[in-house]
Amino acid sequence: MLQDEYDRDRRRLPWHLRRRAEPEAPFSFDIRPAELGDVADIREIYNHYVTNSVVTFDEKKWSVAQWRDKLSHAQKLGLPFLVAQSPSGQILGYAYVQPLSSKSGYRYSVEDSIYLGQAATGKGLGKALLVALIEACEQAGIREMVAIISDRGAEASVALHEKLGFVEVGRMGRVGHKFGRWLGTIYLQKSLNPVKKRGLFGRIRQN
Ligand SMILES: CC(C)(COP(=O)(O)OP(=O)(O)OC[C@H]1O[C@@H](n2cnc3c(N)ncnc32)[C@H](O)[C@@H]1OP(=O)(O)O)[C@@H](O)C(=O)NCCC(=O)NCCS
Repeated sequence: MLQDEYDRDRRRLPWHLRRRAEPEAPFSFDIRPAELGDVADIREIYNHYVTNSVVTFDEKKWSVAQWRDKLSHAQKLGLPFLVAQSPSGQILGYAYVQPLSSKSGYRYSVEDSIYLGQAATGKGLGKALLVALIEACEQAGIREMVAIISDRGAEASVALHEKLGFVEVGRMGRVGHKFGRWLGTIYLQKSLNPVKKRGLFGRIRQN
C-alpha cells in the first residue's frame, strides 16, 4: 500500500460516525395558469434555448414586452398558457398554445409550445405539463393540437409528444437556418376530445 492510501484510510471515520448525505428533496410542482408576474421567468427559460440550442429557430432573445403580449393574446383568445411552479415559488417551466393560423377557419386547431428550465428536465414534468395543457385545451373546445419540432436536438420533445399520442404527419427539410446550418421540422398531430363547443375567435358557446 502506498503511503498516501494508508494515510487516507486512516483518516476515514468508521461508517456509523460518518455524516449521512442529506436526502434529496422530492421533485414536486404545481401547475397553474400563467400570470403577468411569471413573464420574467418564462423569458429567462426560453432565452436559454434561443441562445444555446436549435430546438427553437428564434435567433434573437425575447423581451419581457413580447412575452407580455403573447400571454395577453392567449388570454384574450381563451387559450391555455400554463406554468409549473416549485413549492418555493420558482417557475420550472411553461406550456401554451397559439392558433395554428390567424385565419378564422383554423379556430379549432392550435400549435403547442413547451419549455422547461434545464434543471427541471427529464423528471416527468414535461409530461405532466403537456397532459394539463391538453386537458385545458379540451375544456376550451380545441379539437386538434399540432407540435412543430426541430429535426435536430429535440429528441426529448418528439419522445414526449409521441408518448402522449401525437402522431407524425409530416416533415419539412431545410426550412430553418441557425448557427450556420440548415434545419428541418417534424409535424406531430393529436386529435383531442373537446368538452365544449368553441365559438368564433375563441368565445366558448355554452350549449
Ligand atoms: C422537451 C421537454 C419539454 C420534455 O420534458 P421532460 O420533463 O424532459 O420529459 P419527461 O421527463 O416528462 O419525459 C416524457 C417521456 O419522454 C421520454 N424522454 C424524455 N427525454 C427523452 C430523450 N431525450 N430521448 C428519448 N426519450 C425521452 C421519457 O422517457 C418519458 O417517457 P415515459 O413517460 O415513458 O417515461 C423538456 O425536455 C424541455 O424543455 N426540453 C428543452 C426545450 C424543448 O426542447 N422544448 C420543446 C421544443 S419543440
